[in-house]
Amino acid sequence: MTAAKRELHGRRVGRPLRHRGQRALQELLPKLRVPLAGDGPIDPCALFGRAVDGVWLEIGSGDGTHAAWQAAQNPDIGVIAVEPFMNGIASLVAMAEERQLTNIRVLDDDVRLLLDRLPPQSINRAFILFPDPWPKRRHWRRRIVNPSVLDELARLMPIGAELRVATDVQDYLVWMLRVLRAHPDFDWAPRSADDWRVRPHDWPGTRFEEKGLEAGRRSTYLSMKRAA
Ligand SMILES: C[S@@+](CC[C@H](N)C(=O)[O-])C[C@H]1O[C@@H](n2cnc3c(N)ncnc32)[C@H](O)[C@@H]1O
Repeated sequence: MTAAKRELHGRRVGRPLRHRGQRALQELLPKLRVPLAGDGPIDPCALFGRAVDGVWLEIGSGDGTHAAWQAAQNPDIGVIAVEPFMNGIASLVAMAEERQLTNIRVLDDDVRLLLDRLPPQSINRAFILFPDPWPKRRHWRRRIVNPSVLDELARLMPIGAELRVATDVQDYLVWMLRVLRAHPDFDWAPRSADDWRVRPHDWPGTRFEEKGLEAGRRSTYLSMKRAA
Protein backbone atom coordinates (compact mmCIF):
# COMPACT_ATOMS: atom_id res chain seq x y z
CA MET A 1 0.00 0.00 0.00
CA THR A 2 1.35 3.45 -0.82
CA ALA A 3 1.17 6.47 1.47
CA ALA A 4 -1.16 8.11 -1.04
CA LYS A 5 -3.64 5.20 -0.84
CA ARG A 6 -3.57 4.80 2.91
CA GLU A 7 -6.67 5.67 4.87
CA LEU A 8 -5.68 5.73 8.51
CA HIS A 9 -8.40 6.06 11.12
CA GLY A 10 -7.93 6.93 14.77
CA ARG A 11 -5.85 9.47 16.65
CA ARG A 12 -2.36 10.58 15.60
CA VAL A 13 -1.84 12.93 18.56
CA GLY A 14 -3.34 13.20 22.03
CA ARG A 15 -2.51 15.53 24.89
CA PRO A 16 0.42 17.88 24.25
CA LEU A 17 3.74 16.20 24.89
CA ARG A 18 5.89 17.38 27.77
CA HIS A 19 9.60 18.05 27.40
CA ARG A 20 10.54 14.35 27.74
CA GLY A 21 8.08 13.30 25.03
CA GLN A 22 9.12 16.07 22.67
CA ARG A 23 12.78 15.18 23.09
CA ALA A 24 11.95 11.52 22.50
CA LEU A 25 10.32 12.35 19.17
CA GLN A 26 12.95 14.84 18.05
CA GLU A 27 16.11 13.02 19.10
CA LEU A 28 15.35 9.34 19.61
CA LEU A 29 12.67 8.55 17.05
CA PRO A 30 14.87 9.34 14.00
CA LYS A 31 17.41 6.78 15.28
CA LEU A 32 14.83 4.04 15.81
CA ARG A 33 12.40 4.64 12.96
CA VAL A 34 11.96 2.00 10.26
CA PRO A 35 12.87 3.84 7.03
CA LEU A 36 10.01 3.70 4.52
CA ALA A 37 11.72 5.88 1.88
CA GLY A 38 11.63 4.36 -1.60
CA ASP A 39 9.45 1.44 -2.53
CA GLY A 40 11.82 -1.53 -2.41
CA PRO A 41 11.79 -4.43 0.02
CA ILE A 42 12.85 -3.85 3.63
CA ASP A 43 14.92 -6.57 5.28
CA PRO A 44 13.76 -6.41 8.91
CA CYS A 45 16.81 -8.30 10.22
CA ALA A 46 19.05 -5.57 8.83
CA LEU A 47 17.33 -2.81 10.82
CA PHE A 48 18.99 -3.47 14.16
CA GLY A 49 22.65 -2.76 13.40
CA ARG A 50 23.56 -6.19 14.76
CA ALA A 51 22.59 -9.79 14.21
CA VAL A 52 19.20 -10.89 15.60
CA ASP A 53 17.80 -14.40 15.87
CA GLY A 54 14.41 -13.41 14.49
CA VAL A 55 12.02 -10.47 14.22
CA TRP A 56 8.75 -9.96 16.06
CA LEU A 57 6.16 -7.40 14.96
CA GLU A 58 3.63 -5.64 17.17
CA ILE A 59 0.76 -3.97 15.33
CA GLY A 60 -0.76 -1.10 17.34
CA SER A 61 1.74 -1.04 20.19
CA GLY A 62 -0.07 1.76 22.09
CA ASP A 63 2.17 3.18 24.83
CA GLY A 64 4.79 0.54 24.04
CA THR A 65 4.69 -1.33 27.37
CA HIS A 66 4.34 -4.74 25.74
CA ALA A 67 6.93 -4.15 22.98
CA ALA A 68 9.50 -2.82 25.48
CA TRP A 69 8.90 -5.78 27.79
CA GLN A 70 9.31 -8.29 24.96
CA ALA A 71 12.49 -6.56 23.77
CA ALA A 72 13.95 -6.61 27.29
CA GLN A 73 13.07 -10.27 27.85
CA ASN A 74 14.28 -11.37 24.41
CA PRO A 75 17.49 -9.46 23.72
CA ASP A 76 18.41 -11.62 20.72
CA ILE A 77 15.11 -10.90 18.98
CA GLY A 78 14.50 -7.71 17.01
CA VAL A 79 11.15 -6.14 17.92
CA ILE A 80 9.36 -3.81 15.51
CA ALA A 81 6.53 -1.80 17.10
CA VAL A 82 4.08 -0.03 14.81
CA GLU A 83 1.87 2.71 16.18
CA PRO A 84 0.57 5.83 14.43
CA PHE A 85 -0.38 7.54 17.72
CA MET A 86 2.62 9.81 18.38
CA ASN A 87 2.20 9.99 22.16
CA GLY A 88 2.52 6.18 22.27
CA ILE A 89 5.62 6.27 20.08
CA ALA A 90 7.18 8.97 22.30
CA SER A 91 6.57 6.79 25.35
CA LEU A 92 8.11 3.71 23.69
CA VAL A 93 11.26 5.37 22.38
CA ALA A 94 11.83 7.00 25.79
CA MET A 95 11.48 3.55 27.43
CA ALA A 96 13.88 2.04 24.89
CA GLU A 97 16.48 4.66 25.80
CA GLU A 98 15.99 4.35 29.58
CA ARG A 99 16.24 0.56 29.45
CA GLN A 100 19.03 0.65 26.85
CA LEU A 101 17.09 -1.59 24.49
CA THR A 102 19.08 -1.92 21.29
CA ASN A 103 16.66 -4.41 19.72
CA ILE A 104 13.64 -2.12 19.18
CA ARG A 105 12.65 -0.31 16.02
CA VAL A 106 9.43 1.64 15.50
CA LEU A 107 7.17 2.76 12.73
CA ASP A 108 5.01 5.77 13.56
CA ASP A 109 2.50 5.10 10.82
CA ASP A 110 -0.03 2.66 9.39
CA VAL A 111 1.31 -0.90 9.57
CA ARG A 112 -0.03 -1.63 6.09
CA LEU A 113 2.68 0.67 4.67
CA LEU A 114 5.25 -1.75 6.05
CA LEU A 115 3.64 -5.16 5.56
CA ASP A 116 3.88 -5.34 1.79
CA ARG A 117 7.52 -4.12 1.88
CA LEU A 118 8.66 -7.05 4.03
CA PRO A 119 10.01 -10.23 2.41
CA PRO A 120 8.20 -13.57 2.77
CA GLN A 121 8.77 -15.47 6.04
CA SER A 122 10.61 -12.56 7.64
CA ILE A 123 8.42 -12.19 10.76
CA ASN A 124 8.72 -14.89 13.41
CA ARG A 125 5.97 -13.69 15.73
CA ALA A 126 3.25 -11.08 15.48
CA PHE A 127 1.05 -9.38 18.08
CA ILE A 128 -2.24 -7.53 17.63
CA LEU A 129 -3.29 -6.70 21.18
CA PHE A 130 -6.57 -4.98 21.95
CA PRO A 131 -7.00 -3.45 18.48
CA ASP A 132 -9.49 -0.62 18.02
CA PRO A 133 -12.91 -2.34 18.02
CA TRP A 134 -14.77 0.06 15.73
CA PRO A 135 -18.12 -0.88 17.29
CA LYS A 136 -20.40 0.70 14.68
CA ARG A 137 -21.27 -1.72 11.93
CA ARG A 138 -20.49 0.81 9.20
CA HIS A 139 -16.91 1.02 10.59
CA TRP A 140 -16.24 -2.71 10.79
CA ARG A 141 -14.25 -2.61 7.56
CA ARG A 142 -11.67 -0.54 9.49
CA ARG A 143 -10.93 -3.43 11.84
CA ILE A 144 -7.27 -4.39 11.58
CA VAL A 145 -7.94 -8.09 12.12
CA ASN A 146 -9.31 -8.65 8.64
CA PRO A 147 -8.70 -11.07 5.77
CA SER A 148 -6.29 -8.84 3.85
CA VAL A 149 -4.03 -8.16 6.87
CA LEU A 150 -4.12 -11.89 7.67
CA ASP A 151 -3.14 -12.67 4.06
CA GLU A 152 -0.10 -10.39 4.48
CA LEU A 153 0.82 -11.93 7.83
CA ALA A 154 0.47 -15.43 6.37
CA ARG A 155 2.96 -14.44 3.65
CA LEU A 156 5.35 -12.98 6.23
CA MET A 157 5.26 -15.73 8.85
CA PRO A 158 6.99 -19.11 8.52
CA ILE A 159 5.07 -22.29 9.32
CA GLY A 160 4.62 -22.67 13.07
CA ALA A 161 5.15 -18.96 13.82
CA GLU A 162 2.79 -17.54 16.42
CA LEU A 163 0.22 -14.80 15.96
CA ARG A 164 -1.08 -13.43 19.27
CA VAL A 165 -4.34 -11.53 19.26
CA ALA A 166 -6.34 -10.20 22.21
CA THR A 167 -9.51 -8.28 22.80
CA ASP A 168 -11.94 -7.47 25.59
CA VAL A 169 -14.78 -6.58 23.24
CA GLN A 170 -17.15 -9.53 22.78
CA ASP A 171 -18.42 -8.38 19.43
CA TYR A 172 -14.86 -8.03 18.06
CA LEU A 173 -13.95 -11.41 19.53
CA VAL A 174 -16.71 -13.06 17.53
CA TRP A 175 -15.51 -11.21 14.42
CA MET A 176 -11.85 -12.20 15.08
CA LEU A 177 -12.66 -15.85 15.58
CA ARG A 178 -14.71 -15.87 12.42
CA VAL A 179 -12.01 -14.33 10.21
CA LEU A 180 -9.13 -16.19 11.88
CA ARG A 181 -10.79 -19.60 11.73
CA ALA A 182 -11.90 -19.01 8.16
CA HIS A 183 -8.33 -18.25 7.15
CA PRO A 184 -6.63 -21.37 5.76
CA ASP A 185 -3.15 -20.27 6.91
CA PHE A 186 -3.83 -19.89 10.63
CA ASP A 187 -4.68 -22.65 13.12
CA TRP A 188 -6.17 -22.22 16.56
CA ALA A 189 -5.99 -25.33 18.72
CA PRO A 190 -6.58 -24.51 22.40
CA ARG A 191 -6.14 -27.42 24.82
CA SER A 192 -8.44 -25.99 27.46
CA ALA A 193 -10.42 -22.83 28.21
CA ASP A 194 -7.46 -21.48 30.19
CA ASP A 195 -5.62 -21.16 26.90
CA TRP A 196 -7.83 -18.22 25.97
CA ARG A 197 -8.88 -17.05 29.44
CA VAL A 198 -5.48 -16.80 31.12
CA ARG A 199 -2.73 -14.55 29.81
CA PRO A 200 0.49 -16.60 29.39
CA HIS A 201 3.49 -15.71 31.60
CA ASP A 202 5.47 -14.41 28.61
CA TRP A 203 2.71 -11.99 27.63
CA PRO A 204 2.68 -8.86 29.81
CA GLY A 205 -0.49 -6.86 30.38
CA THR A 206 -1.14 -3.76 28.32
CA ARG A 207 -2.65 -0.38 29.10
CA PHE A 208 -5.87 -1.15 27.22
CA GLU A 209 -6.24 -4.49 28.91
CA GLU A 210 -5.92 -2.74 32.29
CA LYS A 211 -8.55 -0.15 31.34
CA GLY A 212 -10.91 -2.94 30.30
CA LEU A 213 -10.37 -4.81 33.57
CA GLU A 214 -11.11 -1.64 35.54
CA ALA A 215 -14.36 -1.33 33.58
CA GLY A 216 -15.22 -4.98 34.37
CA ARG A 217 -14.45 -6.42 30.93
CA ARG A 218 -12.81 -9.83 30.54
CA SER A 219 -10.05 -10.31 28.04
CA THR A 220 -9.58 -13.17 25.61
CA TYR A 221 -6.09 -14.18 24.50
CA LEU A 222 -5.77 -16.03 21.21
CA SER A 223 -2.57 -17.77 20.20
CA MET A 224 -2.73 -18.81 16.55
CA LYS A 225 -0.12 -20.73 14.60
CA ARG A 226 0.88 -20.23 10.98
CA ALA A 227 -0.45 -23.43 9.45
CA ALA A 228 1.53 -25.85 7.29
C1 LIG B 1 -6.99 0.15 21.52
S1 LIG B 1 -5.33 0.54 21.18
C2 LIG B 1 -4.41 -0.78 21.95
C3 LIG B 1 -2.98 -0.40 22.19
C4 LIG B 1 -2.11 -1.49 22.85
N1 LIG B 1 -2.00 -2.66 22.02
C5 LIG B 1 -2.66 -1.87 24.20
O1 LIG B 1 -3.16 -2.99 24.36
O2 LIG B 1 -2.57 -1.04 25.13
C6 LIG B 1 -5.16 0.11 19.46
C7 LIG B 1 -3.95 0.81 18.83
O3 LIG B 1 -3.82 0.40 17.47
C8 LIG B 1 -3.31 1.50 16.75
N2 LIG B 1 -3.63 1.34 15.33
C9 LIG B 1 -4.82 1.56 14.73
N3 LIG B 1 -4.73 1.38 13.40
C10 LIG B 1 -3.45 1.00 13.15
C11 LIG B 1 -2.73 0.70 11.96
N4 LIG B 1 -3.33 0.73 10.76
N5 LIG B 1 -1.42 0.39 12.07
C12 LIG B 1 -0.82 0.36 13.28
N6 LIG B 1 -1.45 0.66 14.44
C13 LIG B 1 -2.74 0.97 14.38
C14 LIG B 1 -4.03 2.70 17.37
O4 LIG B 1 -3.36 3.92 17.15
C15 LIG B 1 -4.08 2.31 18.84
O5 LIG B 1 -3.01 2.86 19.58
